[in-house]
Amino acid sequence: MTPAELTSKTPLPRYEAERLLALAMGLPRLKAMTRRAVPGHVAAVYRSLVARRRAGEPLQYIEGVVPFGPVEVAVDPRVLIPRPETEQLFAIVAGWDPPDVIVDCCTGSGCLGTALAVAFPDADVHLTDNSSDACDVARSNAIRNGVEVTVWHGDLFEALPDELRGRVDLFVANPPYVADGDIADLDPQVRDHEPRVALAGGADGLDIVRRLAAELGGWLAPGGRFAIEIGFDQAAVARHLFAPLGADVAQDAYGHERFVVGRRPE
Ligand SMILES: C[S@@+](CC[C@H](N)C(=O)[O-])C[C@H]1O[C@@H](n2cnc3c(N)ncnc32)[C@H](O)[C@@H]1O
Repeated sequence: MTPAELTSKTPLPRYEAERLLALAMGLPRLKAMTRRAVPGHVAAVYRSLVARRRAGEPLQYIEGVVPFGPVEVAVDPRVLIPRPETEQLFAIVAGWDPPDVIVDCCTGSGCLGTALAVAFPDADVHLTDNSSDACDVARSNAIRNGVEVTVWHGDLFEALPDELRGRVDLFVANPPYVADGDIADLDPQVRDHEPRVALAGGADGLDIVRRLAAELGGWLAPGGRFAIEIGFDQAAVARHLFAPLGADVAQDAYGHERFVVGRRPE
């Protein structure tokens, strides 16, 4: 059977079928799709990948890697799949002045911190997460991308060494911010496969964001900047919470207010 015959008979969107065939063949998608025929044993692997996808497993977990800014991170069910809006947060801060000390809090796969270590090669980069599984994934993603970072396991700022207090020039976070009551309504692909600890942010989704707002000022250097991803309906509260740090809100590519940004006064 040709690649086109095989993928066109697959009950999945075409681009997903083609990506899974490419994965089964161990080739880039275009190369895979221009092969004359798919050998029987490859077709069997392909069908098993299709079965996983049809059972709801996210394509990114099946493929195992996600491009993110200048890096590619490995992902598995221990960590959230990096989202395009988080890549936009990276693009915003990558345009700021080069920082000496960077903290990526709630790092998950390490996508933000690893990409920032590439964008700012002279910076001292620290990643934190309270999931030891996520810390393991973040460490191996830094190695995979050839950057040196320090990964700290623990609860928000408690994970960081005390000597970083008042010295952080750039703080980024994509914390959990889904309201507990909204978890049940999430896309089953997200709800049933991605880590709940990466999603659930308490009764109104803002438990972690509130704690970040309360403590961040003590960790930023004078003039230090921050950018934190928030839910699409949380901008007004976030502005208020981060007001002492001159909070503003930046939009994603769809015009939604998704990032609270600001700077500690000099
Ligand atoms: C929304 S995920 C973001 C992961 C990654 N930064 C990204 O953008 O793909 C949130 C992460 O925060 C971590 N987390 C949740 N509560 C935490 C806490 N109290 N302290 C530190 N990390 C926490 C979770 O383990 C998860 O990896």
